[in-house]
Amino acid sequence: MQKTLSIIKPDGVQKKLIGTILNRFEKNGFKIVNLKYLSLTNDQAGEFYNMHKEMSFYADLVKFMTSGPCVPFVIEGENAILRVRELMGATNPSEADKGTIRADFAESIDKNIIHGSDSQESAEREILFFFG
Ligand code: RTP
Ligand code: MG
Repeated sequence: MQKTLSIIKPDGVQKKLIGTILNRFEKNGFKIVNLKYLSLTNDQAGEFYNMHKEMSFYADLVKFMTSGPCVPFVIEGENAILRVRELMGATNPSEADKGTIRADFAESIDKNIIHGSDSQESAEREILFFFG
């Protein structure tokens, strides 16, 4: 059993995909065990993605993540960290497998609908970040 942190990003909220995305996880056997609706500040988005702060896309990423409300939530289930990443699909939606959330709904690598923790360590840090 694992817990992982996911975020419906501002484009997903804007496109009214909250219900659809939560349903994807529930129908795949996962439980949503915590959830919030909030707008990230610049400082919060910068801190959340601080591992990317030297990357060329960092400023745009922070700007996008603060462009509107988002929905962070905690998913619980067997092998949740890896399985959630599989259900999300590749970072670039044009490379994401058919039937994944990003292949179905994301318009670009910058506006790619959803975040998911990429390791046990990230999951612990990111759950603490949003839910204390
Ligand atoms: P996320 O953290 O949002 O779940 O996405 P990820 O693990 O699939 O990808 P990551 O490497 O952590 O990158 C975080 C976000 O930065 C944007 N990005 N742009 N232009 C680029 O080469 C590039 N690479 C990454 C994406 O929006 C990605 O979700
Ligand atoms: Mg990542």
